[in-house]
Amino acid sequence: MKRIIEKALLTSCLLAVLLLTACDCADREERIAEARERQGLADALVEAEPLSVGAQLYRDKTCNTCHGDDGINPLLPSYPILARQGEAYALKQMMDIKSGARASGQAAAMKPIIEGVTDEEIAILATFIAEELGGDLPVGTGNVDEESTGAKLFRAKTCTACHGKDAVSPILATYPKIAGHPAGYALQQMMDIKSGARANGMAVAGMKGVMHLVNEDEIGHLAKYIASLPR
Ligand code: HEC
Ligand code: HEC
Repeated sequence: MKRIIEKALLTSCLLAVLLLTACDCADREERIAEARERQGLADALVEAEPLSVGAQLYRDKTCNTCHGDDGINPLLPSYPILARQGEAYALKQMMDIKSGARASGQAAAMKPIIEGVTDEEIAILATFIAEELGGDLPVGTGNVDEESTGAKLFRAKTCTACHGKDAVSPILATYPKIAGHPAGYALQQMMDIKSGARANGMAVAGMKGVMHLVNEDEIGHLAKYIASLPR
C-alpha cells in the first residue's frame, strides 16, 4: 500500500513538473511574440540576423515604415519603390530631401526622418538600397503590354534616351531606375518635373526639357506602363 502511494505521489510530481515546463514554454513564446509586435518587426527579419549595418540602419531609422521592409511595398501608392535603385541617384535624392532642395510631392513626409540621419549614414543607406534591399524579389505589377499607349509613348517621346529601353539602365548613374514605381508616384513626379515643382538634382537639366512633349493624359498612360515594368 505504501509503495502504491509513493508511486502515485511520484507520478503526480512528474506530471506537475511537466505541466510547469509546458506553461513556461508557452509563456516564453508569448513574450517573444509580444516583443516582436512591440518592435513592429516581421518574423522573417528577426530570424535573418545578423543584419548588415545598412539593413540595421534602414530599420532603426524607420525607413521601413514608409518604404516597406523590402523596399517594394510602400505604405502609400504615391510613395516610391526603393529596392535596387541606383546608389548615386538614391544618395543625391536623400541629401536633397534632407536639405530641402527636393520639397515637391510628398517629400515633406520624409524630411523630419532624414534630418535625423547623418551624411555618413545616408551613404551607407544608399549602398544598402542599391545592393541589398529587396534581394531578388520581383518589382512591378507584371502585366507588361508593349503595344499599349504608354509603351508607345515611352519609345516615341525620348524617354528611352535617358532611362534606357527597359527603364532600368539609365545613361548616367545619377539618373533613376524608374521601372516598377507605383503609377501614382510616377505620375506625380512627372507632373512635378514638368511644372518645375521638382527642380532638384538633374530634374531640370535632364528631364524638364522634354516634358512639353507629353500632356497630362499621356503622362497617365506612361505612369501605368512604368508601373508594370520589372526592375
Ligand atoms: C514618413 C515616410 C517616409 C520615411 C520614414 C522615409 N521616407 Fe523616403 N520617401 C518618402 C516619400 C513620400 C518619398 C517621395 C517624395 C516625393 O513625393 O517626391 C521618399 C523618397 C525617398 C527616396 C528617393 C526615391 C526616388 O525614387 O526618387 C529615397 C532614396 C528614400 N526616400 C530613402 C529613404 C530612407 C533611406 C529612409 C530612412 C532613413 C526614408 N526614405 C524614410 C517617405 C518616407
Ligand atoms: C534627358 C534625360 C531624360 C529624359 C529624356 C527623360 N528623363 Fe525622366 N528623369 C531624368 C532625370 C535626370 C530624373 C531625376 C531627376 C533628379 O535628379 O532629381 C528623371 C526622373 C524621372 C522620374 C521620377 C523617378 C523617381 O524615382 O523619382 C520618372 C517617373 C521619369 N523620369 C519618367 C520619364 C519619362 C516617362 C520620360 C519620357 C516622357 C522621361 N522621364 C524622359 C532624365 C530624363
